[in-house]
Amino acid sequence: MVERKKVVLLENVSTAYEGERISAIRDVDISVHKGDFVCIVGPNGSGKTTLLETINGILRYTSGHGSVFGLEIISNGSAIRKRIGYVIQNFEIDPLSPFLCKNVVMSGRTGKIGLLRFPDPNDWNAVRQSMGRVGMESWWSRPVGKLSGGEFQKILIARALAQEPDIFLLDEPYANLDIRSRHEIGGLFREIHDAGSTLLMVSHDVSSIPSSCTHIIVMNRGRVVGSGSTTEVIKSGIIDKTLVMRGPSI
Ligand SMILES: Nc1ncnc2c1ncn2[C@@H]1O[C@H](COP(=O)(O)OP(=O)(O)OP(=O)(O)O)[C@@H](O)[C@H]1O
Ligand SMILES: [Mg+2]
Repeated sequence: MVERKKVVLLENVSTAYEGERISAIRDVDISVHKGDFVCIVGPNGSGKTTLLETINGILRYTSGHGSVFGLEIISNGSAIRKRIGYVIQNFEIDPLSPFLCKNVVMSGRTGKIGLLRFPDPNDWNAVRQSMGRVGMESWWSRPVGKLSGGEFQKILIARALAQEPDIFLLDEPYANLDIRSRHEIGGLFREIHDAGSTLLMVSHDVSSIPSSCTHIIVMNRGRVVGSGSTTEVIKSGIIDKTLVMRGPSI
């Protein structure tokens, strides 16, 4: 069997926020292969967002070793981020924002376009297609400040699609989406995965784990407390145990 490439490797990685004594993620070991669809589950505050931001180098890990695409993360952050589409959690939009949906989606292609040229018809095509895939094509010239939370979430997903990245990091991508939209966007993630992309999707809600998810990582209090193939992890019962266990005692 041909061994698939490792695209994310964290060995004994801890990340502490500036000024904090305790690391938000601790001694994390994970490896993700090209084409995996990984769901990261865990209660609020367990370190899921911190893990994603450590992977794309927005947060610098404070110990251990991390690489993405075989490149050490801290010293290659911007090269790595060009190849990662990140859908951020709870992004706040300014209601007065003058930016139009098409421009926000185009901003996903900044890394491809670079500083020396303007978007060409090819770029606009990619933007149009991405907006179409999330059902937002008719919002083309609408200011993002006028969108509902769910509509804006779809624009953020379209922005990541327009980037044509190798890895998608999706932080609670179903937040603000109604049941029908969850279903449609879930179908889209399946298509992206079938086309060969690697996906890491965070969720604190087990019921929203897509059926196409191949692996699960379970986090609690900053540590990985379970990981493996979807069937292995579900069978182990660790998810139920972790999601009823709270963080600090109340
Ligand atoms: N900017 C920050 N400065 C200091 N501590 C932070 C910061 N952001 C998060 N933390 C802390 O790090 C821990 C992990 O937070 P993180 O946002 O990664 O959790 P999460 O699993 O994504 O939670 P949620 O499900 O609520 O999104 C929490 O205890 C949180 O309070
Ligand atoms: Mg989070």
